[in-house]
Amino acid sequence: MTTPSSQSLPQMLLLPAILLVIFAAVAEQQQHPVPRPGCRDKCGDITIPFPFGIGNGCYRDGFEVICNDSFIPPRAFLADNRTINLERSFYDDRGYYQSSPPLELLSISVATSKVRAYAAVSYRCSLNMTGRTVSKGGEGKTFFMSQHINFGNSAFAVSAARNVLIGVGQIVEPVLVYGNGGSVPNLYCRTISERRYMQRYNPVKNGSCEGRGCCETTLLHPGKSLTVSVTEEDDEWWELYPCSYAMLVEKSWYSFFTPDMSGNKTLHQRFLRGVPLVLDFAAGNVSCPAEGQPPPPDYACISQNSSCADATVTPGYVCRCSGNYTGNPHIAHGCQDIDECKLPENPCSNGGICKNRPGGYDCPCKFGMKADGQGGTCTHVFPPAAMATVGGIGGILLMAIITFLIILHKEKKKTKEFYKKNGGPILEQANTIKLFTKGELKPILKNSNLIGKGCFGEVYKGLLDNEQVAIKKPINGSVQENDQFANEVIIQSQVIHKNIVRLIGCCLEVDAPMLVYEFISQGSLHDILHDNSKKVALNLDARLSIAAQSADGLAYMHSQANTRILHGDVKPANILLDDNFAPKISDFGISRLLAKDKEHTGSVIGDMNYMDPVYLQEGLLTEKSDVYSFGVVILELISSRRAIHSETNGVVKSFLEAHKKQKKATEFFDKEIAIPEDLELLDSLASMAVECLSLDVDQRPTMMEVAEQLHKLSRSRKVQDVCH
Ligand SMILES: *[C@@H]1O[C@H](CO)[C@@H](O)[C@H](O)[C@H]1NC(C)=O
Ligand SMILES: *[C@@H]1O[C@H](CO)[C@@H](O)[C@H](O)[C@H]1NC(C)=O
Ligand SMILES: *[C@@H]1O[C@H](CO)[C@@H](O)[C@H](O)[C@H]1NC(C)=O
Ligand SMILES: *[C@@H]1O[C@H](CO)[C@@H](O)[C@H](O)[C@H]1NC(C)=O
Ligand SMILES: *[C@@H]1O[C@H](CO)[C@@H](O)[C@H](O)[C@H]1NC(C)=O
Ligand SMILES: *[C@@H]1O[C@H](CO)[C@@H](O)[C@H](O)[C@H]1NC(C)=O
Ligand SMILES: *[C@@H]1O[C@H](CO)[C@@H](O)[C@H](O)[C@H]1NC(C)=O
Ligand SMILES: *[C@@H]1O[C@H](CO)[C@@H](O)[C@H](O)[C@H]1NC(C)=O
Repeated sequence: MTTPSSQSLPQMLLLPAILLVIFAAVAEQQQHPVPRPGCRDKCGDITIPFPFGIGNGCYRDGFEVICNDSFIPPRAFLADNRTINLERSFYDDRGYYQSSPPLELLSISVATSKVRAYAAVSYRCSLNMTGRTVSKGGEGKTFFMSQHINFGNSAFAVSAARNVLIGVGQIVEPVLVYGNGGSVPNLYCRTISERRYMQRYNPVKNGSCEGRGCCETTLLHPGKSLTVSVTEEDDEWWELYPCSYAMLVEKSWYSFFTPDMSGNKTLHQRFLRGVPLVLDFAAGNVSCPAEGQPPPPDYACISQNSSCADATVTPGYVCRCSGNYTGNPHIAHGCQDIDECKLPENPCSNGGICKNRPGGYDCPCKFGMKADGQGGTCTHVFPPAAMATVGGIGGILLMAIITFLIILHKEKKKTKEFYKKNGGPILEQANTIKLFTKGELKPILKNSNLIGKGCFGEVYKGLLDNEQVAIKKPINGSVQENDQFANEVIIQSQVIHKNIVRLIGCCLEVDAPMLVYEFISQGSLHDILHDNSKKVALNLDARLSIAAQSADGLAYMHSQANTRILHGDVKPANILLDDNFAPKISDFGISRLLAKDKEHTGSVIGDMNYMDPVYLQEGLLTEKSDVYSFGVVILELISSRRAIHSETNGVVKSFLEAHKKQKKATEFFDKEIAIPEDLELLDSLASMAVECLSLDVDQRPTMMEVAEQLHKLSRSRKVQDVCH
């Protein structure tokens, strides 16, 4: 978006322009201080608000967080159980009781006194029919894992309102046993075998957890000590459905997926780090002070304009900001006034002008209007026509200001709407991605920073948080399905590999969301091979290394456990090279989601020159489609020719024909690199390209195999060099 320069604005609009600056400053101040002053506020993407904290003096007793920076992004754990008496353990596959690693945090909210943490999935699997009847891991015929959670007298407890107990399997009874001395009844549900009662019941359905293959039940009581395990009956289908699962998990998080029922620990394998569990925490383990009574020692609700409320786990209290205030009640000046007038929903109706004040807001009538009665509708004192004549110059100026304020308000409202439409609330919860504001990106989005332009939009280069970034700004590809966009962003932000371009953040406050990536210096492989102005002579070793490392990146994408990630548009233009000519794969998933134009909706629009013909015919994009495209990339690397698609004499077609006839394709090799001693290696690369380009999808190697083969070739070369 371009802004009109201020000189061109009429003089009388300057005053509102000054107001604009003041508003911006106020908005800045609204960023609440969350950690203790001088303490780290983030661990990776997780915000760490006090009473939680990292390092000495930064946390309240029992809320220490350990940030392990050896992970990328860093991961946050609740500190060991010495101080907070937190215990989690589970039976392992052999039935032994084990103490588990510390609790890993997903997010922390002081406004609701809740944290989300990873919990394990309990399971029970049979190796054979008789195994089913044997309990507790007898002779290895059944193996199972039960989770035992005990928060002792720490501040934490499993939330009843925000979690559910879920069971998955043919016939399974997940059980939640409370360890509160039998005062709380156990909780269970039950799935019914579709096969056994086929006639009577509907078949299993994806997304429907109502008894067939999946059952779910709500918790009635919070718990400090509980065990989650699975029991099930004999079942003649143990071979097809060897495993049953039980999990205590955040409400609405798990969507039943029928393939989870079959196979060996399939569901467990999908969520190896665990599933999100919501915990309540109390700021202290006594009741709130009665009115007029002194606060208890070490009272936690210390901010002004904060208050105390009973915790769900008794005895205990939580801290809240008072009504019309928001922020962190656990630190001095943590609770700050909410500017109600900036909320998307204008609290003043009926012609009132919203005026914020600490702890509330007022709605006085506009100039020239008065309220008819208390808090009622504003009506004009004079008819509008009379006002115009009376008002004169002052009136015009006032009208201009009011008009400007209305425009400003509309602009703000639009920003908020876009933010919501583009999945802002979902991404906020995910916490794995940075959400930039329009204001943060604006200084970068100017012509002098423009480094690329394509049919999908523009790319700008700039500096954000001291890091070189590339910002992708789509021209008109607005997001249709915000959930899909948000989910893609979350998935991409978790794909972290040295040969894949890292997604740092996005800006949602615009119609078409902008994406912020790490900046890669040397441009694309396409430019370096084919663009005369950017061409760099690459020797065979460099090309081999680019191929091998790009294959690593793609193989990593394909091997992601939780979500199958396909690229869908592998080509030299999407392989970027850094200072050392190490490749990084770019532009998968969301970039194309955004570029989706009206004519191609529903289909993936990859580059025709690299597109798998089998995909074009059958319409099903698979890992093997990427392998095909990668075959074309190898061909370009050895030939330095641009792959132009054509039904009759395209490069790929003539290459395949030449190879078929002579078992070689020497004429295709780039003369610059085809020295006699390297012909053998080039032949190997050509054969690999031929395999990738096979029209029989099953004949194509996997990306992992391609990567291994390329590394092998690369290694054999290094050995040769040493010998020479
Ligand atoms: C971080 O995690 C690694 C790998 O699990 C572990 O070896 C290391 O001890 C951890 N560091 C800290 C400070 O906990
Ligand atoms: C946590 O508690 C368990 C059970 O009491 C104990 O076995 C384990 O050693 C404790 N871990 C730490 C780090 O204190
Ligand atoms: C399932 O996997 C476990 C190892 O995780 C293995 O011990 C067991 O034999 C497998 N069960 C079947 C039925 O293949
Ligand atoms: C299945 O059960 C039989 C009888 O108990 C046992 O001999 C056999 O080893 C079991 N098979 C496996 C794969 O555990
Ligand atoms: C409450 O907390 C204090 C300090 O954190 C601790 O000394 C005390 O044992 C706790 N009381 C109970 C009943 O858990
Ligand atoms: C559920 O979805 C998966 C993957 O899309 C599919 O393989 C499976 O057949 C579906 N289940 C049912 C019952 O339709
Ligand atoms: C907020 O706190 C300040 C300072 O203690 C106090 O003067 C003010 O009255 C409080 N506001 C409300 C609405 O209670
Ligand atoms: C918030 O502000 C509004 C408007 O001033 C007021 O009516 C309401 O009572 C306030 N809420 C609280 C909890 O103070």
